Amino acid sequence: MSQALISAFSSPSNRHRVRFHDQMADPAGEQSLLEAITVGLTDSPRWISPKHFYNHRGSELFDQICQQPEYYPTRTEEAILESSVADIAARAGGEIDLIELGSGASHKIRLLLDALRPHHYVGVDISRDFLLENTQRLADDYPWLSVHALCADFTAPFSLLELEGDARPVVFFPGSSIGNFTPREAGELLGRVHDQLPPGGGLLIGVDRIKDRNRLEAAYNDAAGVTREFNLNLIHRLRDELDAEVSPEDFEHLAFYNESASRIEMHLVSQRDQTFSLDDQTIALTAGEHIHTENSWKYSRAGFETLAGHAGFTLQGHWSDDQGLFDVHYFERST
Ligand code: AVI
Repeated sequence: MSQALISAFSSPSNRHRVRFHDQMADPAGEQSLLEAITVGLTDSPRWISPKHFYNHRGSELFDQICQQPEYYPTRTEEAILESSVADIAARAGGEIDLIELGSGASHKIRLLLDALRPHHYVGVDISRDFLLENTQRLADDYPWLSVHALCADFTAPFSLLELEGDARPVVFFPGSSIGNFTPREAGELLGRVHDQLPPGGGLLIGVDRIKDRNRLEAAYNDAAGVTREFNLNLIHRLRDELDAEVSPEDFEHLAFYNESASRIEMHLVSQRDQTFSLDDQTIALTAGEHIHTENSWKYSRAGFETLAGHAGFTLQGHWSDDQGLFDVHYFERST
C-alpha cells in the first residue's frame, strides 16, 4: 500500500527537508492512550504495553538508559557494528535504501549511513516529535541523503514506504527491540517485514542473547535509577496526560529475569492501597499489587535464526562480540 505524503517537516530554508508520512491509526493519540491503558489496568493481572513508555520524556530516558554502564546492549551492538561495518557493507550494501525501525537517534545509524551510503533513509517510530527531531538532525548532517520520517506503530500492521528509484530496501532493526514482542508477535512482525520486501531485500537486526541472570538483571536495575524513572514515566503519563490522581512515589520499579521464559520482566509495584479514576472506570490497587509493564525476550543465536527462518528469511551474515553478549544478524528474502 503506498502512503500519502502528509506534510513536509522543515523550517529554516537552509535546512534539508524531511518528508513526513503518518501511519498512526488514531491521530487523537490521547484518546487511544486512555483506551489502551484502561484495558490493561482493568485486566487481571494488570498491564500496560511498553509502547506507552515512549512519549518525549520516555524516549529521552531511554536514550539515557543506553548510556548507563550496566546497560550493555547498546554499546555492545555499537562496537559490533563499528568493527564489522566493512563486512556488513560487503554483504548488505550496494544500491540500497535504508529503513530503520527506530527514530535515527543513535550513533549506529550514522555508522551505517557512512558505510552504506543509501539513496533514501526512512526512520520509522511511534513517537512523532522524537522522530521528527532525529530525522531532521540526520537530514542536516547528511545533505546528500533523502530523509523520510514514517510515524507508525510496529505493534500493529504497518507498511514500508514505496520509495522513488529501484534501490534494494534493507531494513535495520537495532537495539534488540524485537525482544519487546512475544516470540509469536516477533515472528509475525518478521513475516510482515519479509512480505513487504522484494526478493533480495535485507534485514539487519540486533538481538540480545540469553546470558547469566546477574548481568541481565543489572542492565535493568542501573545504579543511577534511570530505568526506574523510565518505568515510572508511565505513572507520570497517567497523571499528566490522563488526569489520574496518582503519584510516582506510590509505585516502585521491579525488574527481574524470568529464566524459564528467557525474558526480563518489568513491573510497577503499588506501595499502598490506592484508588484512582481513569475515564469512567475506578482502578483499585492493593499494596504490593503489580502492573506488568514490559517483557524483554532474550534469544540464543540459533533460536533467533530459526525464528527468522520461519518468517521466510535466509541468513547471509552474522556478527557478535567476544563475550557473546549480543548478535547482529543479516538476512535476505530469497524468493
Ligand atoms: C527498547 N528495548 C529493546 C529495551 C529493552 O532492553 O528491552 C527497552 C528497555 N527497557 C528497560 N530498559 C531498556
